[in-house]
Amino acid sequence: MTHQYQTTQLRELDALHHLHPFTDHKSLRSDGARIIVRGDGPYIWDSEGTRILDGMAGLWTCNVGYGRKELAQAAYDQMVELPFYNTFFKTTHPPVVALSRKLAEITPNNLNQVFFGSSGSEANDTAIRLIRHYWALKGEPQRRIIISRKSAYHGSTIAAGSMGGMSHVHAHSYPVYEGFRHIMDPYWYGESEDGESPEAFGLRAAGALEDEILAIGPENVAAFAGEPVQGAGGVKIPPASYWPEVQRIVNKYGILLLADEVITGFGRLGTWFASQHYGIRPDLITFAKAVTSGYIPLSGVIVDDKIVGALMAHDDDFNHGYTFSGHPVACAVALKNIEIIEREKLVPRVKEFGATALAKLLAKFEDHPLVGEVRSVGMLGAIELVADKRTRRRFDDLGRVGLICRDHFFREGFIMRAVFDTMVMSPPLIWTETQFKEAEVVMRRALDLTLKDVAGELAA
Ligand SMILES: Cc1ncc(COP(=O)(O)O)c(C=O)c1O
Repeated sequence: MTHQYQTTQLRELDALHHLHPFTDHKSLRSDGARIIVRGDGPYIWDSEGTRILDGMAGLWTCNVGYGRKELAQAAYDQMVELPFYNTFFKTTHPPVVALSRKLAEITPNNLNQVFFGSSGSEANDTAIRLIRHYWALKGEPQRRIIISRKSAYHGSTIAAGSMGGMSHVHAHSYPVYEGFRHIMDPYWYGESEDGESPEAFGLRAAGALEDEILAIGPENVAAFAGEPVQGAGGVKIPPASYWPEVQRIVNKYGILLLADEVITGFGRLGTWFASQHYGIRPDLITFAKAVTSGYIPLSGVIVDDKIVGALMAHDDDFNHGYTFSGHPVACAVALKNIEIIEREKLVPRVKEFGATALAKLLAKFEDHPLVGEVRSVGMLGAIELVADKRTRRRFDDLGRVGLICRDHFFREGFIMRAVFDTMVMSPPLIWTETQFKEAEVVMRRALDLTLKDVAGELAA
């Protein structure tokens, strides 16, 4: 009873005092928040004692799973030794040096220097400023426009939110910060024409970049920014032809390439970074989330030597930074997290086991009456819910059925996220056969319950 009372009280206090991110506050207050109290391995528990299998790794974050005492110990030890010191006053400290070195080691090509922040949004704001500063230093200050995609999510600050393409994110901050353009997504299932192969579609979607560069004038374009796989936009996995063509185009016009690896970094695709999976050569990589497996906030942008070279060729300050840039405790946790990923061989494990297991799991639902497509790459996956499998027709009131399905998943003890009517997943990299089997059972139940709710709306 006490337990129950605590849960009710927590819900009331949460409703009274806590504004949640990306939330319909009216419906949250009428439904009440679910209170998550504990995590261990691939599972979390709510305050009523229900065990939940986390198919989202928190929020694309907790790659090594929950309850790692080593990470808590690393934070404790660093807090006792040096809980904080800034890196502004020509000062540094051992954890930030060691982590910068480690990141330079695991990132591709000439990406050797790291600027730290605390969130993915901050990392992308930093990248935007670095990109524009770079071109100003190179004597081309008119190169300010950054091209991104319509379903891109790069964060919620005004600059990162403007670089992202989602209209509902832009809606609260019109006029959107200037200097960004948004082209089509490489989303074959949603945007290909009748009979268009994924390969042909990938080339067309990349071609939209060249069209946009020419429309703006190449001399005004600073960079192309893209998530290697669009995550929050619905796990939109580009066809194999897409990234090589994008790389060719950015090379042709000499513009910078920013890979936002906030979701795809730290092993999710079976390589440290998805840029390595797709064979692209970004000039900047932004990262956050799984660098600490979410145990503590940390983010950053890793930059190519040529950008650092431009900074070093001038005496001016780069007037940008955060109090917590290179926070020693966060860096110590990140180092330990990377050590765990290496020790447990989690990156090759995605290639050798996780990617195939996830693809097999999703394939089991291909024939389900609600499912239009399943797709995955590494340990990122998606299921499209549609009213008509044959024509790919969506349900009316896009997003309604996704939420019904998400709520069934949640009640069944499993977390998948709904992006409109696309169910997406990104499990911790530590899932074994056991979790994949459990997921299959609850997914089948939840999809069948969703089907019952909307059966009358399906195409005959
Ligand atoms: C690709 C990508 N970039 C940036 C962000 C923003 O990160 P944060 O929420 O830490 O600001 C996110 C968040 O989900 C993301 O998915």
